[in-house]
Amino acid sequence: MHIKKIGVAGSGTMGSGIAQILASNGYEVVLSDIDQKYLDVGRRIINTNQNHLMAQGLLTEEGAQETLERITFSLDKKDFHDCQLIIECIIEKLPIKIDFWREVEEIVSPETILASNTSGLSINAMSVDVKDKSRFIGMHWWNPPHIIPLIELIKGDETRQDVVDELKELVESIGKESVTVLKDVNGFIGNRIQFAVFREALKIVEEGIATVEDVDKAMRFGPGFRYPSIGPFETADLGGLDTFTYISSYLFRELSDEKGVPKLLQDKMDAGELGVKSGKGFYDYSDGKGEEAMANRDRRFYEQMKIK
Ligand SMILES: NC(=O)c1ccc[n+]([C@@H]2O[C@H](COP(=O)([O-])OP(=O)(O)OC[C@H]3O[C@@H](n4cnc5c(N)ncnc54)[C@H](O)[C@@H]3O)[C@@H](O)[C@H]2O)c1
Repeated sequence: MHIKKIGVAGSGTMGSGIAQILASNGYEVVLSDIDQKYLDVGRRIINTNQNHLMAQGLLTEEGAQETLERITFSLDKKDFHDCQLIIECIIEKLPIKIDFWREVEEIVSPETILASNTSGLSINAMSVDVKDKSRFIGMHWWNPPHIIPLIELIKGDETRQDVVDELKELVESIGKESVTVLKDVNGFIGNRIQFAVFREALKIVEEGIATVEDVDKAMRFGPGFRYPSIGPFETADLGGLDTFTYISSYLFRELSDEKGVPKLLQDKMDAGELGVKSGKGFYDYSDGKGEEAMANRDRRFYEQMKIK
């Protein structure tokens, strides 16, 4: 394990939380952005995260201070020059990411691992101008990154196995869990499963089979109760593959295979009902109900974090 100093590019929602969790686990971090106002946003996000962790008894004042001392806030990518790993968390636009990586490869050592936190852009497309693509990899964290344990490591066509292994070790060292995505595909693992569930949830409501409220309730207290402990393959093995075969033989043909955006979702989008951010989505978030929903989510996440 040779990674000691890590450059994190982009101090927004993801980059600041990632910098925080790495620094809290003893890594030196350079957190960079393109303007002081964005670095200030990053600092505020880290402070808020730390205050919540302290309120939950998951972080001490000293721990929070030590974490901050390990983070250098920077407006100059050249400060990445002695980092052994760069995690890019900048805007999700392919041409900007391509430019970023072309410039950064010139700054860092030939040994430095280059990792992108892209939500879904192709690893091969992003590294098109990188000379040594064997050290380039996708490293997909889940939001909020200081809480959700999963990190997906995505191999491009040329990514070396020792690069994957090095990041697996790093993920373990910060108490998180990694999976390896062996092909450069959209949605990796987590979002493919999440959107398969979402597509079927939309179909159930569109066809009047159940209400939005009951779909959410069914997920939380049925399959969702299982999933923190056992995944879909373990579930099938425990249930019996004969039974799962019989169910598949009549149920799969009824499930959604919609290839476009389902109408129920498009209608919400067209009406400007974007969820918490606009005060209405599938639920009503007006008059402070949005803040309440976020606080409830965070409280449940922290409870799960303590159990795990
Ligand atoms: N938000 C999520 O839920 C989520 C989850 C997983 C992955 N991601 C991915 O992480 C990346 C960042 O997303 P985010 O939600 O943190 O975005 P964000 O908009 O909150 O932050 C992006 C930051 O990058 C900065 N930036 C833009 N161009 C830059 C450049 N050339 N060099 C340095 N900094 C630059 C911006 O100023 C901004 O502060 C994206 O690729 C996104 O798809 C997001």
